[in-house]
Amino acid sequence: MSKFIISGGQPLKGEIEVNGAKNSATKAIAAAILSNEEMVIENITLFEDVRQMLAIYRDLGGKVTEDASAKKVLLKLENLKKMELDKDLACKSRPSILFVGPLLSRFGEAKIVEPGGCAIGKRPIDLFINGFKAMGVAVTDNPAHNEYNFKGYPQGGTFIFPLVSVTATETLMLAAVLARGRTILKNVAQEPEIPALAGYLNNHGAKIVGAGTPVITIEGVEKITAGDFEVIPDRIEAGSYLAMAAATNGDLLVRKCQPKHLEVPLDILRQIGVKMEIGSDYVHVIPGGELKAIDIKTHEYPGFPTDLQPPFTVLLTQAQGRALVHETIYEGRMFYIDKINRMGADIILCDPHRAIVIGPTKLYGRELERSPDLRAGFAMVMAGLIAEGTTIIDNIYQIDRGYEHLEKRLRHLGAEIIRADAG
Ligand code: EPU
Repeated sequence: MSKFIISGGQPLKGEIEVNGAKNSATKAIAAAILSNEEMVIENITLFEDVRQMLAIYRDLGGKVTEDASAKKVLLKLENLKKMELDKDLACKSRPSILFVGPLLSRFGEAKIVEPGGCAIGKRPIDLFINGFKAMGVAVTDNPAHNEYNFKGYPQGGTFIFPLVSVTATETLMLAAVLARGRTILKNVAQEPEIPALAGYLNNHGAKIVGAGTPVITIEGVEKITAGDFEVIPDRIEAGSYLAMAAATNGDLLVRKCQPKHLEVPLDILRQIGVKMEIGSDYVHVIPGGELKAIDIKTHEYPGFPTDLQPPFTVLLTQAQGRALVHETIYEGRMFYIDKINRMGADIILCDPHRAIVIGPTKLYGRELERSPDLRAGFAMVMAGLIAEGTTIIDNIYQIDRGYEHLEKRLRHLGAEIIRADAG
């Protein structure tokens, strides 16, 4: 298992280009099952989560040609050969469930194990199951083996989400594209990855209306074609680097991002006192801002994203005053806080959803065990960069899932961080 060794104290300086969004690329790979034609995914970064989706696609019979230097993969479904997802691959990856809809449309059958992903609290799949049932699919589970069987071609139907879910919205949208009827999905997620996926599908024959709004209507079509899918910039990666730059009093130009997908986080940075210049596809963090505490509450898009809660919480340790951080989406997304407190922060964890950050505090390097999840891992690295002395973060697999070559990119910006094999 690898670890990061960080010598803190250097402000980030320079320029960084944002990668294509992991949470958009993974969905595009599942969409490739809907057609036998070649699909070209551009601006793709081969994050660990993306690799896992490609591995599942290959295992189902797809051919994958990777051109990592051009950030491109070609997908072609030579021979769709099975309707069961590989158990070892699927249990590690939450987006694996996205394959179910396209498999049902092609085979009338699909089989999966309970999907995995970050340890950020309960990650149930009831919405997916109930949504499929509303589309006429029979679902049976086999708890002894953690398996689910889906039977029947999606027929269309109406499903009202009792709570908003990003991946369940995308999964049912993919299931509806080739369904034998009209599907209406209500109270759906509106994250930018959803209109990006719908836009691609519509360009290739699907009939989806309303993606990016709370109601999506999909008229099932017999067939769709395939072509170029341009992965949108990763808004979470962009927001993570902006918070990191601000916390180190850095001077960082974050390029190739879409500030319009980051309106609320940018507004919060502004309220915290971070000086920025914002263009149509870049944000420049300028040093010298006087940071002050601001309350944060996570919310579905276009609200403040839960994925940015850990980096912004660490940023608040450097701000003057008391801030309430309210995590409304996941009950397991604040358990990195004890680690940041061990470094000298003064954060009171009131309950699994709320913390009060009292700042500013000086942080000191510590040895930290594995990160509970990807975004918490980034926040731990961020704390290490702010801290005086050496921070060691163990077992960094979770961080690699969503931040590509993090240590190389940060070294390029002046940070002192190396990856070492824990032996
Ligand atoms: N939920 C249910 N039942 C379900 C599905 C979800 O109760 O069947 C609940 C969850 O427990 C949670 C809430 O609904 O409380 C929202 O979960 P959602 O389904 O929206 O999350 P997701 O689609 O699994 C995506 C991103 C996450 C990001 C969330 C929230 C992907 C692959 N993952 O997860 O990204 O945190 O939306 O924006 O798109 C990350 O990148 O670090 C990450 C975890």
